[in-house]
Amino acid sequence: MAPAHPPPHIAVANHKGGVAKTSTTAGLAAAAAEAGHRVLVVDMDSQYNATRRLRAALPADPADRAAASLAGVLQSPARGEAARIVTPCGWGGIYSEHIDVCPSDLDLELLGLTAGLPGAERRLLRALAGVVDAYDLVLIDCPPALLSHLVDNAWTASDYILIPCEGEFEAVHGARRVVERVARDRENLNPDLEILGIIPTRFRSTLSVHRTRLQDMEKLVGPDGVCPVKFPELAVMKTATENALPLTHPRCGSEGRNMAALFRDAYAWARKRISHNQESNA
Ligand SMILES: Nc1ncnc2c1ncn2[C@@H]1O[C@H](COP(=O)(O)OP(=O)(O)OP(=O)(O)O)[C@@H](O)[C@H]1O
Ligand SMILES: [Mg+2]
Repeated sequence: MAPAHPPPHIAVANHKGGVAKTSTTAGLAAAAAEAGHRVLVVDMDSQYNATRRLRAALPADPADRAAASLAGVLQSPARGEAARIVTPCGWGGIYSEHIDVCPSDLDLELLGLTAGLPGAERRLLRALAGVVDAYDLVLIDCPPALLSHLVDNAWTASDYILIPCEGEFEAVHGARRVVERVARDRENLNPDLEILGIIPTRFRSTLSVHRTRLQDMEKLVGPDGVCPVKFPELAVMKTATENALPLTHPRCGSEGRNMAALFRDAYAWARKRISHNQESNA
């Protein structure tokens, strides 16, 4: 049975680049779809990688493309205006039936130019109002940034932050900066924002540095805050990324199916954390 509304809004974030934020967003969206949940993926990165990987169709002409993306919507959005750009995932089958995308575009970067306008950090929240009611989960893919207007918009619209993190110093340091910023700015930005936890990514258990950094992750968010599923560094992730395919696609083979199963486990862990949090706040 699908979970009750309103859907949890999860920002997938780490100040460090390349730690698998977008891969985690796509993998969790697929896992949710496989569970029969309806998912809205909001691409708040002007690199538009989530948009590409989920094969959200956009107009070819650059100006039309920008207008049909969050770059066009977020300049001065009416309440619920994101509805006009919602585009189904192009993977087909259950994925297209369950996953929608609010696509991004290069011009989203320009949003920062108007960051000083009153209430500007609430533009995404406003654009999504009501639109999210049709979903069981909202995933917001964040850029590798911290004190940025796009991040402010993403976090203002979110209930939780989920932090993909490699087992290396700079990635854990990036995760720490996320945790510290939430603690520092929560009252100004979003008093309800919670750290949902850390997902260890690109993990190699044979490397002692990765095992050590895993302990650092536990110190940062507590042992329960680190997802017990550690995503191994596997070539199939490149196949999925290069070709914008779900991990269950035949081209991703058994390695892809195994990775998709890990995303289902990680999604179950995240939902359990959310339910636990909702019960403790009730
Ligand atoms: N478990 C994995 N094993 C191998 N490669 C991986 C794994 N997870 C992600 N990758 C690869 O790492 C690269 C970066 O991943 P991704 O784009 O998801 O990171 P990101 O944090 O979203 O990056 P950015 O900061 O640029 O937004 C991609 O080429 C992706 O295919
Ligand atoms: Mg990314």
